[in-house]
Amino acid sequence: MDLKGRDFLTLKDYTPEEILYLIDLAAELKDKKKKGIVEQPLIGKNVALIFEKTSTRTRCSFEVAAHDLGMGVTYLDPTGSQIGKKESIADTARVLCTMFEGIEYRGFGQEIVEDLAKYSSVPVWNGLTNEYHPTQMLADMLTIKEKLGRLKGVKFVYMGDARYNMGNSLMIVCAKLGLHYTACTAKEYFPDKELVAQCEEWAKISGGSVTLTEDVKAGTKDADVLYTDVWVSMGEPDEVWAERIKALLPYQVNKAVMDNASKDAIFMHCLPAFHDLKTKIGKEIHDKFGLDEMEVTDEVFESEQSVVFDEAENRMHTIKAVMAATLGAYK
Ligand code: CP
Ligand code: NVA
Repeated sequence: MDLKGRDFLTLKDYTPEEILYLIDLAAELKDKKKKGIVEQPLIGKNVALIFEKTSTRTRCSFEVAAHDLGMGVTYLDPTGSQIGKKESIADTARVLCTMFEGIEYRGFGQEIVEDLAKYSSVPVWNGLTNEYHPTQMLADMLTIKEKLGRLKGVKFVYMGDARYNMGNSLMIVCAKLGLHYTACTAKEYFPDKELVAQCEEWAKISGGSVTLTEDVKAGTKDADVLYTDVWVSMGEPDEVWAERIKALLPYQVNKAVMDNASKDAIFMHCLPAFHDLKTKIGKEIHDKFGLDEMEVTDEVFESEQSVVFDEAENRMHTIKAVMAATLGAYK
């Protein structure tokens, strides 16, 4: 499979075969890493990592993966460059692609990363925008494959804000790969109708399905995967916390939800998560709203069914696969 030169922006333009190829390549690279096999197929190349929002997993994954592949890395932090302030995205793209073989971008509107890709002659990888988080999808699918042994036919339930980056991207990847995707949330957090229609078309071909429901009991019944994300995303104003809590608290992933799912169900979360607000993390929200837990209870997060740290580890292996494939290291 030749993906050399391709951007990685939404997954919409990747075929199911291409997505599965990247997941399998990541599994191979993971195996090699575990065995201590060192290959540096991209030695002498360099990548730029632009982060207009903060990150732990994505940044570390790109950096470690680039080093493992033999590449140099330049990290541009949320404040330390001219991007979008003193210099347009088009000019930035044309500068960076004279020095780097690939560019990662994390930031706000999807149009920014699309613009970067349009003006850049090297692959551009979306490290998260308001609308999409495609590299996370590969890690999530690899984790499901490892834990459940299959992707097709898996009953996947997403609870929370289903119209933002995680909800959108999970619906796309599930539809493409033949999982049964359910967004179980309040109506106002249902995904965009046009995207749903597009995903339904892909699901028809893959044998998957897309369901939107407000009914927690019916929506989570016999689920294989329960997935959630923070209720307020990076860059959203603090003022939305009150309305989010009111609307989304009924869709918290807790023991009752897990008990209603399949007995072998797994719990997933892209992280970072608000599961123990009594600690320093989230204390402000705890004091303001009197809640100890948010989108997932600590009991579920810390349970045997939770695979969140395997998922986090897989970010690195899958991001490595994306860079390796689009820079032509493996075919
Ligand atoms: N899941 C994820 O993208 O984490 P970071 O924000 O830490 O990169
Ligand atoms: N929806 C979250 C995802 C974090 C990985 C955010 O955008 O902040």
